[in-house]
Amino acid sequence: MLNKKTVDDISVKGKRVLVRCDFNVPLKDGKITDENRLVAALPTINKLIQDGGKVILCSHLGKPKGEVKPELSLAPVAKRLSELLNKAVVFAADDNVVGENAKKAIEAMKEGDVVLLENTRFRVEETKNGEAFSKDLASLADVFVNDAFGTAHRAHCSNVGVTQYVEEAVVGYLMQKEIEFLGNAVNNPKRPFVAILGGAKVSDKINVINNLLEKVDTLIIGGGMAYTFLKAMGNEVGKSLLEADKLDYAKEMIQKAEDKGVRFLLPIDHVVAQEFKNDTPFKVVPRGGIEVDWEGLDIGPETRALYADALKDAKTVVWNGPMGVFEFENFAQGTIAVAEALANIEATTIIGGGDSAAAVNNLGFGDKMTHISTGGGASLEFLEGKELPGVAAANDK
Ligand code: 3PG
Repeated sequence: MLNKKTVDDISVKGKRVLVRCDFNVPLKDGKITDENRLVAALPTINKLIQDGGKVILCSHLGKPKGEVKPELSLAPVAKRLSELLNKAVVFAADDNVVGENAKKAIEAMKEGDVVLLENTRFRVEETKNGEAFSKDLASLADVFVNDAFGTAHRAHCSNVGVTQYVEEAVVGYLMQKEIEFLGNAVNNPKRPFVAILGGAKVSDKINVINNLLEKVDTLIIGGGMAYTFLKAMGNEVGKSLLEADKLDYAKEMIQKAEDKGVRFLLPIDHVVAQEFKNDTPFKVVPRGGIEVDWEGLDIGPETRALYADALKDAKTVVWNGPMGVFEFENFAQGTIAVAEALANIEATTIIGGGDSAAAVNNLGFGDKMTHISTGGGASLEFLEGKELPGVAAANDK
């Protein structure tokens, strides 16, 4: 159980409430192309509106590194949020985030009104957790709510520094829900508990693999990272992604799985090509059969069947990272097969953010999953067993 104060533990009537959300959404030509993070933030915002708070929202967007980049303004988010909330969201367009527009807008707020500040990363101190910007943000509010799970692995002004200068710092419903789903899956799973890890690099998942091997019954590996494991077992991998400096680690993990009695599954066949693009000839080869000039870009049909079979009796599944280059249609079958397998089983299915969440949603399986995390890096760090600074900074119950 999360031992932090939540929005249910405080009274916000008439108070200025600064809410840190993760509105870091993908934008194309000024349009939001995936609004899941906005939708996920609504329960907390609506609760605070209903309770008569003066709701001041803030977030980062992209990585402007302290520079004002108009293409990374939160203006499109204010517009879309206003539609989703069915009420005005006043956008305070200050390049320095806490400026005259924000101050005036907040001064004029009535209970239940909503203001959105400009991208917090327009201020260079934000990512350094600097004191001045933390104090500036806190000066706008009485209490602080952190609902930005996606950013909880960062220690920045707007989610950590600011907590020192407000009356109360609590977490919102999204943060609570994320920690409960991910926490229960990992620490109190119904068994068999299966984890599926994919994505390009072993180095991104080192601590996750190590931590999950302590907890799971089966660990399934796919994506680019599989080739380092296969090479460590003595298989030829052609010009597939290979992290030569992680071969010893891969061997260690294979040994650890054996020692712990964890079933450790790696691809038994591959879809390979000679060029890294969608429109290129491809073929299926068995494990060990990748020729010198070829690279694995997806798991093959036998692996798809093997993985689906390993998932069929699972009661808890955590999935992070695609099985192949799923953004190329010809190499998306592995990722589709895993999403399909998860959609068809009676289990608690948790999708750990980032690419796998996008894949599940794009493929239309979103509503078949128990929980799709809004955090990419944050959910990975959570699965590593790390304490997230954004959560730690909230007041204890
Ligand atoms: C994310 O998209 O994972 C979060 O919003 C954090 O963004 P960051 O990696 O730029 O800190």
